[in-house]
Amino acid sequence: MTNENYSMGHPAPSARRRDEDIAPYIRISYSSPRKEGNILKTVYFTEPTKENIEAAAAIIRRGGLLGIPTETVYGLGANALDADAVRSIYEAKGRPSDNPLIIHVPDASWLERYCKEIPESAYRLADRFWPGPLTMILPRKPIVPDRTTGGLDTVGVRCPNHPVTLAIIKAADVPIAAPSGNTSGRPSPTCVADMREDMDGKIDGIFEGGPSQVGVESTIIDLTCTPPRLLRPGGLPLEALEAVLGEVAIDKAVVAKLAEGEKPKAPGMKYRHYAPKAPVTVVTGSPDESAAYIQKNLPADAGVICFSEYTARFSGHIVHDLGPAADKGEQARRVFDALREFDRENVSEIFAQCPDTEGLGLAVSNRLKKAAGFHVIEV
Ligand code: TXA
Ligand code: MG
Repeated sequence: MTNENYSMGHPAPSARRRDEDIAPYIRISYSSPRKEGNILKTVYFTEPTKENIEAAAAIIRRGGLLGIPTETVYGLGANALDADAVRSIYEAKGRPSDNPLIIHVPDASWLERYCKEIPESAYRLADRFWPGPLTMILPRKPIVPDRTTGGLDTVGVRCPNHPVTLAIIKAADVPIAAPSGNTSGRPSPTCVADMREDMDGKIDGIFEGGPSQVGVESTIIDLTCTPPRLLRPGGLPLEALEAVLGEVAIDKAVVAKLAEGEKPKAPGMKYRHYAPKAPVTVVTGSPDESAAYIQKNLPADAGVICFSEYTARFSGHIVHDLGPAADKGEQARRVFDALREFDRENVSEIFAQCPDTEGLGLAVSNRLKKAAGFHVIEV
């Protein structure tokens, strides 16, 4: 698709401004009322031509909402410095306003624009892992609106590894605030069809960029404390962070359900995310043992998420294949799709096999366990 209808009657893109100029404006003229029940005509960009990148960047500059591809999951992007644009993200997602957004930058040189007291370790991490699935929490500068950080005095920053989104950020010349592009509470979108399912008619545009190559969201590391603290396991394994940082603490919300009223450092970790309609039970242990347990205890109308080697065992049930037991990269790419698929199917409950927590297994098992509300059976 071309960009011919991107403007949808909105004013022509304003001339490019530097962020220092944009911040005081807060809101650049943008005529699309995003009221409850109002349906927008979402424009789909498929080819990464210069014109389309410019048109997508113009949506961002004008305070609109744009679905963006990243290597982790698709994001729902807006100008991070425009408090009104950021408010629209919360509206489109139905997201609680105390859950802060991360901002996306094209390289580490932008850190100083938005963060202060940046430790040397941030540059070491950026050097090693950016662009890539790593978000760093750092003290923010006042240029980043309260609305973006949910009122926190820190901000999460990530440089995504996707040529389309990097080009859009550079063309817009503002950082893009982007949560995962799902409706709040649903699994994150890992392809343009998922993004369309949740956001068509609610946002101005979606830029197609192929299926997400990592499949789970970025790893979040808090660099404002000592030792640095893992707030969310994701596409960059903990072991890779430890190799650069030495000791890394693990936030409790990563591995266990929080007690009523207990507050995680990443506010989003307190929500029961990724929840399919049917209740989920995660079964840990060796693949052979967890498969045997599920086989023995599976009600007739229950569904299964299992490793490729075991799908034949559950014939007669709805089964989603998580990938080979030894291939955690593939499991990461498939986990959200498996959960999302079950929303389209009628099962009484879901049993899921789960990898060990080494490498990407920590992120895959965290997403499954969160979908299960930490209802886990250890065999
Ligand atoms: O891979 C990703 O990180 C994707 C893509 C689109 O980049 N984005 C993403 O954003 O997963 P979101 O909003 O779905 O998850 C960000 C998490 C939330 O749990 C939020 O609470 C936490 O990061 N977070 C954001 N800012 C924070 C801050 N200043 N301190 C602690 N946690 C923060
Ligand atoms: Mg999310």
